Amino acid sequence: MYLSNRVQTLAESQTIAMARKSRDLAAQGVNIISLTLGEPDFNTPDVIKQAAKKAIDDNFSFYTHVSGYVELRQAICGKFLRDNQLEFTPDEIVVSTGAKQSIANAVMCMLNPGDEVIVPAPYWVTYSEILKLAEAKPVLVNTSIENDFKMTPQQLQQAITSKTRMMIFSSPCNPTGSVYSEKELSALADVIKQYKELYVVSDEIYEHINFVGKHASIAHIAGMKERTVVINGVSKGFAMTGWRGGIMAAPKWIAQACDKMQGQFTSATCSITQKAMFAAMHLSAETTYPMRDAFKRRRDLVVKALNNIKGFKCNNPDGAFYVFPDVSYFFGKKHNDKVITNATDLCMYILEEAAVSMVPGAAFGDDNCLRISYATSEEKLSEAIARIKQAVEKLS
Ligand SMILES: Cc1ncc(COP(=O)(O)O)c(C=O)c1O
Repeated sequence: MYLSNRVQTLAESQTIAMARKSRDLAAQGVNIISLTLGEPDFNTPDVIKQAAKKAIDDNFSFYTHVSGYVELRQAICGKFLRDNQLEFTPDEIVVSTGAKQSIANAVMCMLNPGDEVIVPAPYWVTYSEILKLAEAKPVLVNTSIENDFKMTPQQLQQAITSKTRMMIFSSPCNPTGSVYSEKELSALADVIKQYKELYVVSDEIYEHINFVGKHASIAHIAGMKERTVVINGVSKGFAMTGWRGGIMAAPKWIAQACDKMQGQFTSATCSITQKAMFAAMHLSAETTYPMRDAFKRRRDLVVKALNNIKGFKCNNPDGAFYVFPDVSYFFGKKHNDKVITNATDLCMYILEEAAVSMVPGAAFGDDNCLRISYATSEEKLSEAIARIKQAVEKLS
């Protein structure tokens, strides 16, 4: 057996690993409530499904342009103008098989071995692994719950060296649900603009799941569009995780490089998915409000219930569908012979004791916390939190 060093140093996605463990327990008959997964529990809107069915009947079944067929890229430009007041042309858009591939394209095209990349922590697990594949160096900037898990301009400034080439972050954020305001982004941009060779990858996949009002893109700040790669897609906002449709909007020279990279790896994404994305791009942001409002109700329920458990410290997430409570209060406590030394132990303890699965914060760069996804029904959420409460009250 011979595997490359590249794949051997790559970590398996912890979210997927925990989900697998819960499935194994469920197969043994345990009634597991899973709070691990990162996808909306809603169906894709009918108008999108109809567009895909029509595409099949119309035999829209051939290879398209690697970056997506041109009318789709035009529609994406329309979406950026309408929702984000950003003016792009179709040759600055690359459609991919998901935001994940768009991020991989950007990282592979823009970084050389040894280049440093600023990653505010907690961060989405995939960032650090894709950076590793590119042999770039993630420079983690730790944020804390006191600051709503947001990086300050001072922290950013301190992390920049002569080797820094990129900053990558998500807002709304997975795993914290934090949302940077335009003012906060502008303060970060003031630092970034001092460095000619520093680019931003702005992951805006949760744009439509935002409880504070209008989404702010760092690309919208004066002087930033030419040094920002905007990542978006249809997975979260339109409940289309399985369709695999990602979007990048970037300066043309970056988009062209990504088109070349993607042309060798996957070519264009599925032609039927592209037609579905075309329909999604014509839906106004308002169509996503019912799902967003359901997530907001669940956010309120979960945060309130968790704050009623002694030892759980939550921020009030402004977007996405995750809460990231600090559980360090439990470190050093035990039940029977089970001692909790970190959040990973606590996750495992709760899975075994209460049959509720969550993802340890270590996977996102913070082992004081754990990630709870509230992409499930209010009934299940209430039941899960009651079980968690019972389990942790046994720790002393
Ligand atoms: C922050 C973030 N970016 C990107 C993605 C991937 O999205 P896609 O399904 O479009 O690849 C996810 C999915 O969990 C995510 O949480």
